[in-house]
Amino acid sequence: MIITWTSWMEKRISFSQTLINLYNKYYKRLVENEVEIADIRDEDRVLCIGGGSVPCTALQIARLTKAKVYVLDVDEEAVNRAREIVEKLGLKDRITVIWGSGEVVDPSDYDVIHVALQVKSKNAVLEHILKNSKRGARIIVRKPKKRRRKFYSNISSRILNLCKGYCKNYNLNCYNPNMGEVLLMVKN
Ligand SMILES: C[S@@+](CC[C@H](N)C(=O)[O-])C[C@H]1O[C@@H](n2cnc3c(N)ncnc32)[C@H](O)[C@@H]1O
Repeated sequence: MIITWTSWMEKRISFSQTLINLYNKYYKRLVENEVEIADIRDEDRVLCIGGGSVPCTALQIARLTKAKVYVLDVDEEAVNRAREIVEKLGLKDRITVIWGSGEVVDPSDYDVIHVALQVKSKNAVLEHILKNSKRGARIIVRKPKKRRRKFYSNISSRILNLCKGYCKNYNLNCYNPNMGEVLLMVKN
């Protein structure tokens, strides 16, 4: 339910620059944390899976670094809305929005892969990424707070076992009503 509501809300927000600016503030501290945790650098190619209609994560990464950011979303309307926002902000050469699904995207050319909280089929997406991403790729996955887990697609213990030894949970250094931690995997 939260997932559907967020997607719906983002579509409404995407028509107003004022609301986009406010929504961006919600993501600011969170993405600052993630950039630090995943050590995102100017030379990185970053893939954001589940960018939404208002791709705040990508916008914040582009604000904080000179990394080339690719936003992926399975919802064609969200892709069109996100493309318009990126173009309006003059960020077309820094952020590319792609229509596609995290389960089948080719992840082999990215240094950092970011998986949004609302991404569905998280196990299939992660299994695919872990199998096909390059060595050294940093994979960052947003995790819901315990009491919110039932509203999201969650990572199974089988997947966690697969990456045991090269993944670590990080507490967020900021308040977020839905998220408690992010999981960082460094593919070996
Ligand atoms: C509502 S957004 C939230 C992301 C937020 N705007 C951000 O900047 O981090 C989540 C998006 O994930 C997309 N999504 C969900 N599962 C996906 C998958 N398996 N592959 C690609 N996109 C997915 C949805 O279509 C939705 O637009």
